[in-house]
Amino acid sequence: MTEARTPKQLFIETYGCQMNVYDSERMRDVLAPFGYALTDRPDDADLVILNTCHIREKATEKVYSEIGRLREHKTRRADEGKVTTIAIAGCVAQAEGEEIMRRAPTVDLVVGPQAYHKLPELIARAARKTGERLLADFTAQEKFDALPARSPDGVTAFLSIQEGCDKFCTFCVVPYTRGAEFSRPAAAVLAEARSLADKGVREVTVLGQNVNAYHGEGAEGFADLLRRLAQIEGIERLRYTTSHPVEMTDALIALHGEEPKLMPYLHLPVQSGSDRILKAMNRKHDVVRYRQIVDQLRAARPDIALSTDFIVGFPGETEKDFDATLRLVADIGFASAFSFKYSSRPGTPAAVMAGHVEESVKAERLARLQAVLSSQQRAFNAAQEGKSLPVLVTGEGRKSGQKHGRSPYLQAVHFEDSEAGAGDIVDVRIVGSSQNSLTGVRVDSTLEVA
Ligand code: SAH
Ligand code: SF4
Ligand code: F3S
Repeated sequence: MTEARTPKQLFIETYGCQMNVYDSERMRDVLAPFGYALTDRPDDADLVILNTCHIREKATEKVYSEIGRLREHKTRRADEGKVTTIAIAGCVAQAEGEEIMRRAPTVDLVVGPQAYHKLPELIARAARKTGERLLADFTAQEKFDALPARSPDGVTAFLSIQEGCDKFCTFCVVPYTRGAEFSRPAAAVLAEARSLADKGVREVTVLGQNVNAYHGEGAEGFADLLRRLAQIEGIERLRYTTSHPVEMTDALIALHGEEPKLMPYLHLPVQSGSDRILKAMNRKHDVVRYRQIVDQLRAARPDIALSTDFIVGFPGETEKDFDATLRLVADIGFASAFSFKYSSRPGTPAAVMAGHVEESVKAERLARLQAVLSSQQRAFNAAQEGKSLPVLVTGEGRKSGQKHGRSPYLQAVHFEDSEAGAGDIVDVRIVGSSQNSLTGVRVDSTLEVA
């Protein structure tokens, strides 16, 4: 006899980078067959997963304060006779698993990024309260194969091809939390991309901590893999993130000019515009090299838009170093950027360097940098007005006759059109812009679009 089961409620809170966003989707998928339905509130959740980030101190602190809040949910639900399982996943789990267990008895399970495919089993064990320490570690290969990609909107998808990092930038915890670089074999990546295309996915963002360091078996490097992904029928657009400047090979730069499916937008973190600071960060390239890569990319693909990351207030950063960063920003012109105050991470080489910069100085520099970056972003969006852009339709807008989609430059586009369906690529004339999105009108709405 089969019993009708009410779905158990699953709440996942995601912090950090795209790798975590990707992993949270996989965790949801792997738990669905076990009767877990996603909810957007922790209050009534039977299972709460915090998918954590260790990159900056603030991100880590958030985890402990969130655990404090969850303790109250757990107690309240226990009073109602309900069991709540609390799992900590992600990079804090990997880096501070034992400390979490010690500091937070309310946590039932700590699970590192390589063990997500074992979640159903681990959760079943944790929920039974066997009292064992549940911190598992498996190889990256197993994880990838067990957790195939899925598309959140049916049209765009992330496809993870590489994890981990061997670069050891002196400020960064990722090499410690995600381990050494590991690349999936090309055959597995291509098979997964074909299956996404069969399900209607049109835009694939190839994902990795150091995605262009890809060295998987069966491909001659990252450019070769991209070229083969572009041959898959149904996949119309390709992007990749996050790339490292030292891995921008001539072949990869050239591909931006040769492969029309490769979108003219690249996130290429630079961190600083000062050679002295880049050296102390162990970024392995100087400012001249970064400018040269940008020049080469723009020669190959004149409309390419660039995005980047900056850290301000790295130990030893002087006003002169910071000026060099501002100069680089002014010269290059970024379509968008992330910028952060340096956060000292225990165990990293920078944490023990001389010349830590005062918090107030960091805050002031960050504000100055962000003012410039945000005006560049507004200007970049405004520069699209009057142009006609090919937009990938991702879904219906709130009002009838309204659609939303994505421009080649990763901008969100809201536009009027009654015919196009999700997955179509249509020409939209851009009539308005804001800090974060564009508005427009479909140009050729009478034409049939494949
Ligand atoms: N693999 C990617 C970045 C991953 S971390 C790369 O190399 O580009 C994302 C961003 O967080 C980094 O680019 C950096 O700008 C920022 N970051 C990393 N560690 C940091 C720290 N200790 N303090 C402040 N920002 C940091
Ligand atoms: Fe961190 Fe540097 Fe690796 Fe990026 S390349 S993940 S910043 S160590
Ligand atoms: Fe954070 Fe881990 Fe990503 S530390 S930035 S979630 S790889």
